[in-house]
Amino acid sequence: MIYNMDCIKGAQQYLEDESADLIVADPPYNLGFGGTTQTKTKKPRFNIIANDKLSDREFQRFTFSWLREAYRVLKTGRHIYVCIDWRMYPLMVLWMKKVGFTIKNCIVWDKEQMGMGWQYRYRHEFIILASKGKQKVRRISTRKATDVWRIPRISGNKTIHPTEKPASLLEPMILNSSEEGEHVVDFFVGSGPAYQAAVQHKREFTGFEIDPYHFENAVNRLK
Ligand SMILES: C[S@@+](CC[C@H](N)C(=O)[O-])C[C@H]1O[C@@H](n2cnc3c(N)ncnc32)[C@H](O)[C@@H]1O
Repeated sequence: MIYNMDCIKGAQQYLEDESADLIVADPPYNLGFGGTTQTKTKKPRFNIIANDKLSDREFQRFTFSWLREAYRVLKTGRHIYVCIDWRMYPLMVLWMKKVGFTIKNCIVWDKEQMGMGWQYRYRHEFIILASKGKQKVRRISTRKATDVWRIPRISGNKTIHPTEKPASLLEPMILNSSEEGEHVVDFFVGSGPAYQAAVQHKREFTGFEIDPYHFENAVNRLK
């Protein structure tokens, strides 16, 4: 099930305490991003992502609000994965710890191809892995997985969302941190890669996306 609504209100309305076996979140990074400007018109291909151009104080308040909801709905001993880039990484780790999460690792997503950036071109992002509670934390299903994931990004002209992640990036999170039939929650569905991976691997799914355009794309992806 995915809802076209704010994730904080949505979680309060639809999700019970300790009802999620796994949470994935690719939140706004507060970079005011609307996609690459390397277009013929030099204009970004998309509108700026909702909640991606807030004051520092507003962004902190917004992030704390959804993190508190995420903490409430996650089952004790289970995982949350939060995508972030190098600029916001220190704050996100701090804020996640403050709401109660235990940081377990920082996965580096090597996108294989370079993106923007002029003081070295960007090719990686971080994914923070944390748990609720310190005791009896679920093990990662495979002993062979490392914390560097080499998975090609979707090239700029093929994306349907300004910060689209490939479904193949969500797959290891879902396969390694949940079982068939378990409940995966995505606070920021975007174009729906986690939705796709969860349904393909027979997980129950609840997701929230505030922007009607991205919500439609996520619904259509599953069609
Ligand atoms: C970084 S993007 C996620 C992109 C997604 N992983 C994908 O591959 O398409 C963040 C998404 O969160 C949505 N969003 C922002 N604030 C939100 C809120 N309060 N509740 C739900 N969705 C929100 C934005 O519209 C945007 O689509």
